[in-house]
Amino acid sequence: MKAIGVFPGKASSAHLIDVPRPALEDIPHGRGVMVRILRLGLDGTDKEINAGEYGTAPDGQDYLITGHESLGRVEEIGPAVTEFAPGDYVVARVRRAGDSLYDLIDTPDMTTDDAYYEHGISRVNGFLTEYYVEDPRYLIKIPQGLKHVAVLLEPTSVAEKGIIEAYEIQRRLKVWQPRRAAVLGAGTIGLLATVILRNRGLAVTTFGLDEPPYLNSDLAEAVGAAYISTKQQSLAQNAAQTGGYDLVFEAAGYSPIVFDAMCHLVAKNGILVLSSVTGGMRRSEVPSDAINLDFVLGNKVMFGTVNANREHFEAGVQDLAVAEAQYPGWLSRLLTHPVHGLDHYDEALAALGAPGAIKVFVEIAEA
Ligand code: BGC
Ligand code: ZN
Repeated sequence: MKAIGVFPGKASSAHLIDVPRPALEDIPHGRGVMVRILRLGLDGTDKEINAGEYGTAPDGQDYLITGHESLGRVEEIGPAVTEFAPGDYVVARVRRAGDSLYDLIDTPDMTTDDAYYEHGISRVNGFLTEYYVEDPRYLIKIPQGLKHVAVLLEPTSVAEKGIIEAYEIQRRLKVWQPRRAAVLGAGTIGLLATVILRNRGLAVTTFGLDEPPYLNSDLAEAVGAAYISTKQQSLAQNAAQTGGYDLVFEAAGYSPIVFDAMCHLVAKNGILVLSSVTGGMRRSEVPSDAINLDFVLGNKVMFGTVNANREHFEAGVQDLAVAEAQYPGWLSRLLTHPVHGLDHYDEALAALGAPGAIKVFVEIAEA
């Protein structure tokens, strides 16, 4: 079967390869689920991998099959599988268990191992191919009515984890009632975080770089959020007017904005969630005394979040369903750049970060 492989560490090495089709028996004890891959979304991580800045090949292999935002359909199941049936739509979790305590309780997203295993990213082949065989524990069932937007589930799960953890951490306050949230970044994760927070009833302000109106600002406003371009108003100016936010979700992919947000945007007792994977070497100077004092005197929290476990994928299914019911067609508007067929993977890579692109995805087979 066809697959797209890269040589990690080497720039622009994506190439079409031919690999053997997996077998149901690859998973022991009759627990294999054979999945036909239908759609595969790409993001900034794939861009970094293709630039040779990120990504690790599996042991004993010089290439890595990329792709981690999948949607597939079950074709065949092993005799001991009860959870799925042929015809079911599924999304695969990205991270696989390592050895730490957190991995043992099925939360590999929290692993403390140095090496982590992520399909299409780190040490395990990904889904930019035609079939995979998996254990049911790593699959999430998608309701039939969501299959047209379910390629968004993996990035949704990343936003869900950050938001769910923020609420868990804030149980320290006993009576936390967040009313106002800020989202930094209006790309896929920023817009998905916006709709999740709107579903929870918060007033949301989404900050992006570009000046409105454009598709991303329209999408933020369509779910009742306010959109602000940081070219028109700085975070400091905004905070002076608004008094800051109970929850700030950072998904801008630009690390200096983290310190700007720490400095200005977090209200007393508030929480700042960091979700951007910034692979570079950028440095910046910050007003450290002021930031420190403000966090101490305001009882503020900042934490980082990566990946997601089953709980967050399942919360993502719920929020996608609510979003589809409340704002019909909104999720589909995020799917801006379809590319048809694995053979055209280079078009997909070129579309990443192109003007107007929100979600770039490859249509691999008919849904
Ligand atoms: C993926 C996550 C992954 C992270 C770090 C993101 O693009 O969506 O699943 O944990 O990259 O590798
Ligand atoms: Zn990703």
